[in-house]
Formats: sequence, structure tokens, C-alpha cells
Amino acid sequence: MFTAAVLTVSDRGFRGERPDLSGPLVRSILEEAGYAVASVGLVPDEQPQIESALRKLCDSGQVQLLLTTGGTGFSPRDVTPEATAAVCERLCPGIPEAMRLASMQITPNAMLSRAQAGIRGGTLIVNLPGSPKAVRENLGAVLPALAHGLKMLC
Ligand code: MTE
Repeated sequence: MFTAAVLTVSDRGFRGERPDLSGPLVRSILEEAGYAVASVGLVPDEQPQIESALRKLCDSGQVQLLLTTGGTGFSPRDVTPEATAAVCERLCPGIPEAMRLASMQITPNAMLSRAQAGIRGGTLIVNLPGSPKAVRENLGAVLPALAHGLKMLC
């Protein structure tokens, strides 16, 4: 069984102005797929804070899959992809390509997600957009293929 962690990136969620629906949703989708979920965290859209949360989770050695939700769009505060690229040693462009390809069948807005995926040590990080609808659609498109990649990471 693989262990996963979830990180919600949201200013409003962090300030308590909006309940975090997406983080718990990612957790439940992962658990349904047979993952153990070690944590669901919440950070504001601040690149240093996102990077430090990502590094801490990856470097714990306990987490094989780290999913973020939020902060992938065009607003000036959306910096989750930049934080992800900064902490990763190798990028995995095929994963966000597959998410955007699948999501484009649903909405042309899918092209607006700047999500990244990459590897730091023994952890695969995948960015998901922020809305619960987009989480379901994007994660559904790639989750079945991730276990094979995670096996090769160990
Ligand atoms: N992908 C799917 N499958 N479904 C969606 O509804 N929303 C898009 C896109 N990807 C969407 C999607 C929209 S409207 C935006 S702005 C981007 O994801 C980025 O979302 P984020 O800024 O909340 O991360």
C-alpha cells in the first residue's frame, strides 16, 4: 500500500474564509483507490510556504504520492506550479498533459491549469486545480496510471 499526503493551497481557505472542500475530497478519492493518507494540510498562496511544506513532506521519507490542490491558474497569487518545479529534481510532464487532455473534453477552461508534476527523492508530486469538480475530473484521469510509476520510484 502506498502512502499519500494532500496539500491544499488557498489564501481564503487558510484564513478560514472558505471551507476546504477539495483537500478532504482528494483524501477520500485516494482512500477509495487503496492509498493510506498520512495528512491533509493547508497553506496560503505563498511560494516559500508552499515549497517548505512540499520539502517537509517529501523529505520525511513517509510519502510516496503528494497531491496539491489549488493555485494552478492565472491569478497573480497562483504559484503552486512554480513552487513544485522549484523543489523537484525531475519533472513528469506527461501527467499534467494527460490531465489537460482529458479535461479538455469537459471544458475548454482546462487549458488554463498550469499544473506541474515532478519527483523529489522518493515522492511524486502532482498539482491539481482547486475546485472540487476539477479535482474529480483531473485526478480521475491520471490516478489509475500512478501506481505503476510509484512502484518504480521505490
Ligand atoms: N479541469 C477540469 N477537468 N475541470 C474544470 O472545471 N477548471 C479550470 C482548470 N482545469 C477545470 C479544470 C479552471 S476554470 C482553472 S482557472 C484552472 O483549472 C486552474 O484552477 P486553480 O487556479 O483553482 O488551480
